[in-house]
Amino acid sequence: DKGEYRHFMLKEIHEQPKVVQRTLEGRLGDGQVMVEAFGPQAAELFAKVKNIQIVACGTSFHAGMIARYWLEELAGIPCQVEVASEFRYRKVMVQPDSLFVTISQSGETADTLAALRNARNMGYLASLAICNVAISSLVRESDLTLLTLAGPEIGVASTKAFTTQLVALMLLTLALGQVRGSLAVDKERQLVEELRRLPARLGEALAVNAAIEQLAEYFADKNNTLFLGRGAQYPVAMEGALKLKEISYIHAEAYPAGELKHGPLALVDSDMPVVTVAPSNELVEKLKSNLQEVRARGGELIVFADGRAGIENGEGTRLVNMPHIIDALAPILYTIPLQLLSYHVAVFKGTDVDQPRNLAKSVTVE
Ligand code: M6R
Repeated sequence: DKGEYRHFMLKEIHEQPKVVQRTLEGRLGDGQVMVEAFGPQAAELFAKVKNIQIVACGTSFHAGMIARYWLEELAGIPCQVEVASEFRYRKVMVQPDSLFVTISQSGETADTLAALRNARNMGYLASLAICNVAISSLVRESDLTLLTLAGPEIGVASTKAFTTQLVALMLLTLALGQVRGSLAVDKERQLVEELRRLPARLGEALAVNAAIEQLAEYFADKNNTLFLGRGAQYPVAMEGALKLKEISYIHAEAYPAGELKHGPLALVDSDMPVVTVAPSNELVEKLKSNLQEVRARGGELIVFADGRAGIENGEGTRLVNMPHIIDALAPILYTIPLQLLSYHVAVFKGTDVDQPRNLAKSVTVE
């Protein structure tokens, strides 16, 4: 039931504060993540983990790419991330003491399942599934599971499954950092407090809806768009580009902003909007100089940033103001405006938002 919403996708976007809350519930203790949330054997197992291999498809793959930044920076664990369709068909050199992590909304994606089945004979310590469906092949066949509690996701374009996956992956990062002693106790406490505040912050981010709706018309006649981000915001940009492609049928490509000069700058003109996620962090000054390069070539910018980033609305720059959030959680918050952007552009173009052409909700064949 779509309730008051015109599409399931919009309903699911608005459910995010609630389902993020639910995904956190019972998993946070006093200043710490509860490692038991990953199963009774998790503590002993996590203590041995020296490497992580993440495998997933589509949006779930983007969640894995963001987790890599977290796992390496916060928990100090080397991490590799790969799409399942590639992983399953290549000769993989497995690092000793590696944990194999799959991410999937449905738990039935053919390539992800096949990768898991291959991994069984490859010498991994154990497998962990981050999945939204409790009764699924992926959960059944994995050693450990952490469920995302997003509830059924009907829209083919994944929204609330993605943000709850990110929450689950942050819990994994904290749990591994805690057990291995590689994350400072104070840092974990701070992140746990910020996670508790996250549902409210997501609610604030949803308030940008009206501002974004006004941008939709500008995009509707465009054929190409570029999405830029740096650091963990690069996969956020990839996810934003995927959403726009899927439901509005506008070609969208994501680039790490530092790569602009290595090719994509040649495409920039006033007909190609450049969408940028720019939370204030240590990379924002570099990002701003990338944006100047775009402006110098007549490119039109759509920037999502908080007040501290020092980016201003003006000629050729449409700024959408975001609430400020601790950098580690910014990828979760900045996903929201990109979901809303693709949604409103699709509605403006009159496409079938919940059931885009040629796509299935769950890809159970190769
Ligand atoms: O169910 P899964 O998370 O394994 O699905 C993976 C992809 O098929 C899925 O994320 C797809 O990319 C979505 N349509 C993205 O919106």
